[in-house]
Amino acid sequence: MSSTYPDLLVMAGLTAITRPAGPAAERINELWWVMFWIATTVCVTVFVLLGLALARGPGTGPRSPALSVRFVVIAGAIIPTFILVGLLVYSLGINRVLAAPSADQALTIEIVGHQWWWEVRYPESGVITANEVIIPVGETVRLELSSVDVIHSFWVPVLNGKMDLIPGQTTSLPLEASLPGEYFGFCAEFCGVQHARMNLLVVAQERSDFDAWLATQQLAAPPPNDATTLAGQQVFLGSACVYCHTVRGTNASGKLGPDLTHLASRRLLGAGALPNTRGNLAGWIVNSQTTKPGNRMPPMYLGGSKLQSLLAYLETLR
Ligand code: CUA
Repeated sequence: MSSTYPDLLVMAGLTAITRPAGPAAERINELWWVMFWIATTVCVTVFVLLGLALARGPGTGPRSPALSVRFVVIAGAIIPTFILVGLLVYSLGINRVLAAPSADQALTIEIVGHQWWWEVRYPESGVITANEVIIPVGETVRLELSSVDVIHSFWVPVLNGKMDLIPGQTTSLPLEASLPGEYFGFCAEFCGVQHARMNLLVVAQERSDFDAWLATQQLAAPPPNDATTLAGQQVFLGSACVYCHTVRGTNASGKLGPDLTHLASRRLLGAGALPNTRGNLAGWIVNSQTTKPGNRMPPMYLGGSKLQSLLAYLETLR
């Protein structure tokens, strides 16, 4: 078994809806606890009554038939109706708050679903990246979600509820993080064999850090600065990489796979399949099918020196 990042236990902790990290998730958390305590109270009450009935033993009829009928009507119909209608009204109220467009949305980010990764575009600045959504902390950004193939669903549980990505439609979701940090998210709609490895990170940064990040991402890739990286760039441009990947500032302008212009600045590879380290990147290039079987990237059996220079080049794409 190859290790996955983050592992399941870590992921469970990072994605618990009971640890909200933004205003929308706080509302959802509140709704969850209200439902949890009401359901727990009802469940305990029912089991206590059942226990009392069983304790009376078989063959004993009701003490008073009229009282029994009244009890069934009140406890079996009237109280549940009040509870369910109350919860419905309450949850609709929270839905209204969640759906209300925020007055001041800092920026729009387009999320495009692919089998099995996330394209992340900042239309106002022309920045395109993948699997990591960098946002300014404490500001509401507007996500516009679409898909190029099948239905996916964007879910970062500690920030907001799920939103589907539907081919031929655009959906939207406000996203706000209250504190700087990395928030784990994933695809929440079965979309094919690698649905489970269609993960993402939302990274909330201070405004100044965010602006600096955006400015760097707007730049084209730097030209190679030594013989090794130059050789690596030639390997890249002379191989099948260019049919699927873009590196701005070079002739590589493929659109099928993630934009690699700033690949080395990203934390994860293969939509969260692996941390972005040199060794993982090498393994991914040579045969990503071992880590993420069925993904669209074919194996690329490069000789040792070609692979090393390619890795050196890719590491300059910061
Ligand atoms: Cu995309 Cu599941």
